[in-house]
Amino acid sequence: MRTILVIGIGAGNPDYLTVQAIRAMNRAEVFFMPDKGEEKSGLNAIRLAMLAQFVEKPQYRLVDFAIPSRRRAETPDYRESVEEWRDKLEIAYRRMFAELPDGGTGAFLVWGDPTLYDGTLRILKDMQSAGWDLAIEVIPGISAPQALAAQHQVTLNRVGEAVTITTGRRVGEGEADALSSAVVMLDNHQAFRRFEDAEIFWGAYLGTADEILVAGRIADVAAEIDEKRRQAQSRNGWIMDTYMIRKPEKS
Ligand SMILES: C[S@@+](CC[C@H](N)C(=O)[O-])C[C@H]1O[C@@H](n2cnc3c(N)ncnc32)[C@H](O)[C@@H]1O
Repeated sequence: MRTILVIGIGAGNPDYLTVQAIRAMNRAEVFFMPDKGEEKSGLNAIRLAMLAQFVEKPQYRLVDFAIPSRRRAETPDYRESVEEWRDKLEIAYRRMFAELPDGGTGAFLVWGDPTLYDGTLRILKDMQSAGWDLAIEVIPGISAPQALAAQHQVTLNRVGEAVTITTGRRVGEGEADALSSAVVMLDNHQAFRRFEDAEIFWGAYLGTADEILVAGRIADVAAEIDEKRRQAQSRNGWIMDTYMIRKPEKS
């Protein structure tokens, strides 16, 4: 049996690592490192710095794997394209696990929390169901919505209300129109623009040295967010941002 640690490393700041995550990092013989093209230098540099800082006996090996690109324009069905993409990743996982001896322990350093908008755990569970002899351990991490709320010093829920965490694509399709607040991730098209009167709490590169925060009425700050986003993306080559929208309270 192989042990696979799915370690949430938090959304950017090494101080977000939990004691449980550090202990898990110190057990792994192999770290599986995703190659996401432009993001690689940014995100993997943070992963490597965490290993250098927190692994006491650095005897581990790094095994890189390429993240396949997802068919977008040609595939109208979003779910179908994600499934296809996961299948390709599973093939990469099978190859990587061959590098791990039976009885060995490997680890994924998953950005933020492994249970929020991340496919690693699902692929591993599918492999387990398909007969792979894997012992899976999941270590929670501080997710981008948690980092966002802390940096802006706001609560995610309004009194007595639900918390909705969703994607830019779904907000663009109208999902948040009837909600009084929502946290939005994975948004390349600034879907918040449809709520001019709402307040926004926006954060990019949360927890890192490049962090940018903007808050205010959307009508007042949308142009500032666009400009900061554009500049940061051209400076760094990639961007990760998350925001919360809050509509005015009904009286
Ligand atoms: C594939 S999801 C991964 C989420 C991650 N598992 C988590 O728990 O935060 C990537 C999205 O998370 C958000 N995100 C992750 N890290 C972030 C950060 N440091 N600052 C702002 N947004 C971040 C962005 O919305 C980005 O598009």
